Formats: sequence, C-alpha cells, structure tokens
Amino acid sequence: MPSDLAIGIHDLSFRTTGLVLSHTELARCNGTDIAKYHQGIGQRAMSLPTADEDIVTMAAAAAAPLVERHGTDRIRTVVLATESSVDQSKAAGIYVHSLLGMEPHVRVVEMKQACYSATAALQFAAGLVHRDPQEQVLVIASDISRYDLDSPGEATQGAAAAAMLVSADPALLELTRPSGLFTADVMDFWRPNYRTTALVNGKESIAAYLEAVEGAWKDYQRRGGLPLEEFRAFCYHQPYTRMAFKAHRQLLETCGAQADEETLDHALAATTGYNETVGNSYTASMYLALAALLDDADDLTEQTVGLFSYGSGSVAEFFAGRVRAGYKAHLRGEAHREAIGSRRAVDYGTYRELREQTLPTDGGWYELPHETRGPYRLAALRDHQRVYEAA
Ligand code: HMG
Repeated sequence: MPSDLAIGIHDLSFRTTGLVLSHTELARCNGTDIAKYHQGIGQRAMSLPTADEDIVTMAAAAAAPLVERHGTDRIRTVVLATESSVDQSKAAGIYVHSLLGMEPHVRVVEMKQACYSATAALQFAAGLVHRDPQEQVLVIASDISRYDLDSPGEATQGAAAAAMLVSADPALLELTRPSGLFTADVMDFWRPNYRTTALVNGKESIAAYLEAVEGAWKDYQRRGGLPLEEFRAFCYHQPYTRMAFKAHRQLLETCGAQADEETLDHALAATTGYNETVGNSYTASMYLALAALLDDADDLTEQTVGLFSYGSGSVAEFFAGRVRAGYKAHLRGEAHREAIGSRRAVDYGTYRELREQTLPTDGGWYELPHETRGPYRLAALRDHQRVYEAA
C-alpha cells in the first residue's frame, strides 16, 4: 500500500432542521441585551426541530445528496457520530442506511464522545480506506443540542447534521498526519441517560476547551506537525462562534505569536457563517465550520487548514488538511444556504410550547404530524419502535 496515498474528504454536505428562533426574538423576550448574543457569543439564531425531525432525519437528509452524486457501490461502512442518540442499543445509522436504500453489505456503527466523536469517525474512516483504497466510508455527524430553559446555555442551542464521504484521492480535503491528541477527565458538560438536556459548568467548560487547545497543539508539534505559519485558516469546534476566537487566541499565545483582531479574522472569519445561525450542532459543528470556509473563502487550493475538534469530558484532536486542486467544482454552497434560508421562523411563545412537547414513552401507537419540509420524517411510534419514511 503506498504510504503517500491521499485520503480525505471527497464530498461534504450538511442539513439542519425546519424551524429557527432568532436571538433577537430570544433577547426581546428574556430581557437580555442583544449585544451579548450578537457580539458576546457571536450567535444570531438557532435551529429547532419540528415534531417529526430528529438526528436520523437530519442525517439522512445530509447524506442523500452524497449518495445521489456518488452512488453507494463503494461504501462499505457508515459511521454515525452523535451525542443525542435515539436508542441505547441500535445504531441510528441503520435507519439512515435503510432510508437511503443502501446495500446489506455495509457495516453500520454509532460513535460517542460528546462533540468530538465525528473526528474519531473520520480518522477511523481514513484507516479503513487506507486498508482498502477502493472502499469509501460515509461519516455522518448529527446532533440536536438542548439546555434547560432560562439557563446560560439556552442561547447556544442548535441542530444540524454533516455528512462526509471519505475516500482515496479526495476531491475536497486531504487529511494529513500527525494528529495532536489531548484527553482529560473533567465534568465540564455531560448528560446522564435520564436527562433530555445537558448539564454544564459554563466557565469551566471554556477553560477545559482552552486547556485542550494548548494540549492538543503541543502534542501535534511534538509529533512533527506543521508550524503555525503554514496554516491559512483554522476550523474550531464552535459551540458558539466567539469560542473559536478565544481558542485561536489561546493557540497563538501558546506559539508566542501576535493575537490581534486582524490575525484572528484572517484565520477564522470565513468559518463562522453557518454556525452563527444554526447554533451548536455538537458533533457536526466543526464540519459546518469547514463547509463555511470551503464554500465562502477565496481560493484555498493547496492551502493548509487546521482543524480542532473538542468534545467535553474531554477529548480533543488537532489535525490538518490540505485543500485539493479543483475543489470548488464539488462544493454545495447553494444547497447549504437553502437549507438555512428555508427554515420557518418561530416566535418565543411557540418555542416554549415546542420545548414542552415530548414524545410518548408508553409504547402506544402514535402518528406524528407532518411538519417537516425535509426529505425524511419520523412518521410514527409503535410498540417502542420509531418508524421513519421518505416525506
Ligand atoms: P453567560 O454566563 O450567560 O455569559 O454564559 P457571559 O456573561 O460569560 O457572557 C458571554 C460573553 O458575552 C462574554 O464575553 C461577555 O463579556 C459578553 P467573554 O468574556 O467570554 O469574551 N457580553 C457582552 N458583550 C457585548 N454586550 C453585552 C454583553 N454582555 C455580555 N451587553 C456560556 C456563556 C458560554 C458559559 C453559556 O452560554 C454556556 O454555558 N454555554 C454552554 C457551554 C458551552 O458552550 N461551552 C463552551 C466550551 S465547551 C464545548 O465547546 C463543548 C460543547 O459543545 C459540548 C460537547 O462537547 O458535547 C458545549
């Protein structure tokens, strides 16, 4: 097997949910100064699911355009990364496999480690492709983030799924080695099985994230990683977009480099456009930052992009990708903007009502109202089973 075989992201697509609450509306109703949301955390709106949307419907909607463009013949593995799973046993990706009409000769697995697991899935996929360069792996990150009402985390909710086809000779981004890794046993953010909303120590979570930036970068350097000057841009996990600026400042200071606004903007400004209006999509967040960068930045051909993935608890990874020549012909910016632009705005009262609706858990038969405008929906619950269909 050639060790210089290029492996990476061949195609990238994301989708979000059908509803949106603006931060202007949230601030108007909860008495917060809007500048705190727009400037302080860098958020403008958050995606919310309709009653018949969940991580499976988003994941299938994100992956469908990849399957349409490339077929499924070479896909032997589907990995779905999430921390808002719908079942403790069955992998959500099996529903996606079914909705997309994939062959039975495919392994499907789910991965979890807070927001980090999509990056573990990506590296797992790269390893499989290295073993057999004819194979492609479908990696999907899909999450809906929920915090308690009236808590500080509430303004950082959101939802999205990002789907990536990982292959040899990729059209978009070649993944390079090494990776810098950092793990610490911290309780900055977690969600016990009996809760539908996350628990978080807000300030501690920011400190844990920043410690992980420094730790992962230092490990990356120890293992022979590229110097700071080689990077054109940095895609950080964005629980809210200002976090990327805090993170990059930390990285620059770790390197003894100047952290002025112009330097930060040059490295980050093109990465925040999707996340500032979608909100925290946990596992998908860093890949929405990458999609924004590829879709919106000037030509990045042959340039190196830094990627920092963080999952509370915590595990982090810093790695680099090289943008491939001709990548612009394969982008999906129009569809991404359409997914964001077609969401239906809800007012604060409707948002609060939606938050009170929960799916029944008694095993009865329930049809769900057809509300989504997306291509797949959760149609019913029957005998504790979820029934999905093409919408
Ligand atoms: P908070 O206490 O409501 O906000 O919580 P604050 O008072 O810290 O203000 C936020 C920023 O707005 C501050 O800026 C203020 O100065 C500024 P900073 O000091 O940070 O630079 N501000 C204003 N700016 C302009 N005009 C104003 C104004 N007022 C204030 N009038 C917090 C903020 C992020 C803690 C909260 O939203 C939270 O708990 N969020 C959830 C946790 C989170 O996102 N943590 C991030 C790191 S952990 C992570 O990324 C992992 C995660 O994605 C989960 C996973 O891995 O699965 C969360």
